[in-house]
Amino acid sequence: MLNKQIELEANSSHLYLAMACWAECNGYGGTANFLYRHSDEERMHMLKLVKFVNERGGKAIIPNLSVGKVSFSSLKAVFEKLLEHEMGVTNSINEVVFRCLEEKDYTTHAFMQWYVTEQLEEEALARNVLDKLKLIDNDKGGLYLFDRDLANIQADSVANTPTA
Ligand code: FEO
Repeated sequence: MLNKQIELEANSSHLYLAMACWAECNGYGGTANFLYRHSDEERMHMLKLVKFVNERGGKAIIPNLSVGKVSFSSLKAVFEKLLEHEMGVTNSINEVVFRCLEEKDYTTHAFMQWYVTEQLEEEALARNVLDKLKLIDNDKGGLYLFDRDLANIQADSVANTPTA
């Protein structure tokens, strides 16, 4: 299950990198910066798991990745996809935590609590951004300001760089 989670975090990093490229090529430089940072953050989530698995006597598997063709009709569509993706990640983490309790693996359970907290923050951030985009709708001035502001929002966990 931890190797499956490694793959999911790596896929998140890849998907957000593709989203950043889309944003950059469509004139949303601020959003692109935000998504590039988010992609880096997901790579750190993956790395933290890789090190944990190897240090605990397991073997981390580095997955092959493919996001296919990534294209969006709007910024709102980007963040709808991002939120949907994060909700899937949360479900996966919850399954790992459930299994930890079944197996009485309290070490992994403690380790996974970092991810539980992280998901709370990531989902809240994605919902917040999406709410703003719903308010703006198709207003070009609003989108311009949104993009400018997003450049300065720290995807929270960038500041909490995992060190394990
Ligand atoms: Fe690492 Fe956004 O889940």
